[in-house]
Amino acid sequence: MKMKTEPILSPSLLSADFGNLERELLTLEEAGLKWVHWDIMDGLFVPNITFGPPVIKKLRPRSRLFFDVHLMIEQPQKYISQFADAGADLICVHAEACVHLERVLSQIREAGVKCAVALNPATSLESVRYVLPQLDMVLLMSVNPGFGGQSFIPFVMDKITELAGMVQKYSPTTLIQVDGGVHLKNAAAIISAGANVLVSGSAFFTGEPYAKMHTLFQQAMTGQACE
Ligand code: DX5
Ligand code: ZN
Repeated sequence: MKMKTEPILSPSLLSADFGNLERELLTLEEAGLKWVHWDIMDGLFVPNITFGPPVIKKLRPRSRLFFDVHLMIEQPQKYISQFADAGADLICVHAEACVHLERVLSQIREAGVKCAVALNPATSLESVRYVLPQLDMVLLMSVNPGFGGQSFIPFVMDKITELAGMVQKYSPTTLIQVDGGVHLKNAAAIISAGANVLVSGSAFFTGEPYAKMHTLFQQAMTGQACE
């Protein structure tokens, strides 16, 4: 039986101020956040470009947050060591971008970093069935990756429940992360379906103080009424 994990919020820097990422990281830490989500986009796997290893490397010594690095890039096997050296705590690769997924996961583990696989909304859970015991986390995309501010795709809710069943059976310590269209109103349902880690970009970075948003998300994730 899986122990109930305290839900974790991982705010996505995609919606933060790119002009002052150091201040953003410090403010998140001061607000009690433990994780931060880095959306790495290459303009090929997704139609958008963000930041790469040098940015993470510069900011690593200035933050104690857990760096949750989501690679939305083609041929991720070429860049694992760079992201590990830069200071990623967890590297997540897309199953759709890996021809030899198991080999890439070995690379991540050999680099001494926690490893995760992301699945686009339409990708079957079968893609991770056999590697589940090797994974610290599975990321279920609840939007098609590339942009913040999109709407949660409803069928992903059933997918979370189904993955939670697989995880319980094959790898009870593997976390389930949900990314895309997560907000205060659907957080409770996503956690109830079986998720442990929620990513939030546009619903977290609203201009409200981060401590307030953190509290609201914590209340929402634990099923306490919000607003
Ligand atoms: C989408 C990214 C997400 C995104 C979430 O490609 O992987 O992490 O920032 O943004 P919201 O929460 O605005 O949907
Ligand atoms: Zn992401």
